[in-house]
Amino acid sequence: MQFDLKITDPKSKARAGVITTDHGTIETPIFMPVGTVATVKGVHQSELKDEINPDIILGNTYHLYLRPKLETLEAAGGLHKFMNWDRNILTDSGGYQVYSLSGRRKINEEGVKFKSHIDGSMHFFTPENVMETQRTIGADIIMAFDECTPYPCDYNYAKRSMHMTHRWLDRCIKHFENTPPKYGYSQSLFPIVQGSTYKDLRKQSAEYIANSGAEGNAIGGLSVGEPAEEMYAMTEVVTEILPEDKPRYLMGVGTPINILENIALGVDMFDCVMPTRNARNGMLFTAHGSINIKNKKWENDFSPIDEMGITWVDTMYSKAYLRHLFASREMLGKQIASIHNLGFYLWLVREARKHIIAGDFATWKDKMVKQMDKRL
Ligand code: GUN
Repeated sequence: MQFDLKITDPKSKARAGVITTDHGTIETPIFMPVGTVATVKGVHQSELKDEINPDIILGNTYHLYLRPKLETLEAAGGLHKFMNWDRNILTDSGGYQVYSLSGRRKINEEGVKFKSHIDGSMHFFTPENVMETQRTIGADIIMAFDECTPYPCDYNYAKRSMHMTHRWLDRCIKHFENTPPKYGYSQSLFPIVQGSTYKDLRKQSAEYIANSGAEGNAIGGLSVGEPAEEMYAMTEVVTEILPEDKPRYLMGVGTPINILENIALGVDMFDCVMPTRNARNGMLFTAHGSINIKNKKWENDFSPIDEMGITWVDTMYSKAYLRHLFASREMLGKQIASIHNLGFYLWLVREARKHIIAGDFATWKDKMVKQMDKRL
């Protein structure tokens, strides 16, 4: 994997770069649509490729390991072939999904024992077997196994957990280096900074992760309920320390505003279920604020879903029609809203890139943040 940093904004820490892997290039900043179980929910490959057009999507080790299971993924020749996606894929390690299973899992130094949400069967993830699992899934970028701490988190717990995540990273790196890729293209392992909302821990973790010499680095344990200001403060501490010449990935973030603020702090990669999950609940993101399409106020509004027309659904369907689909619980409504929201997120990061290159990112960002902070 290669990362070419093209330009850094003079008035913020925003950067524009290009990541190159065996599955092509990724222009940064980038938003990665979430495809948890080998599908970006509700979106056909043709719409994903031609309309939304991301250079990379995300998959989840925890889910794919449980279903369709590794045997099927290996027999298919890896996740790219299984889902017929020939661009980049990143898989999360399961650290976050296992964290979300609170009550159904037990963490110790060796790894995490957990109960499947599908059939209640017991499983054990270790840094070593998670590396093997991600070799079998075959994503271009794979994540280290970590513990994502909750918010709020007691200082001593956060400190102990962070050190365990660092020891797990050493085990991940060792095992990753001793396990060859399975499908003829290379994979890159990204470590994850933890440390909850404590600046000293974040600093310590970022230094540890920076020293691991990885091809890219991630920031985890944020967007777990903390106020946005605390998230930004943590990102700022960490991006000061992570190497400039490697991509930085902020995991699980966030709203359109969160994304712009974190781009300004030097983050290059994002993922979040928000555009698709909120779409399925009838919430649309636009450049002028968010819309709850289920509201009665749209009942007879025959204007396009979004005048900007970023994707074809935006001008093909009216607000009144989309509201009707949600009121009737028609699945097309969720599909339209998902395409719209993902199209908007990808537009937003592409615009950010253009403005970083043009040198006016900071003023554009401030204008957009104000504009998007509204409910229509
Ligand atoms: N997704 C969002 N946050 C995290 C995190 O802290 N760790 C992992 N593995 N995935 C995440």
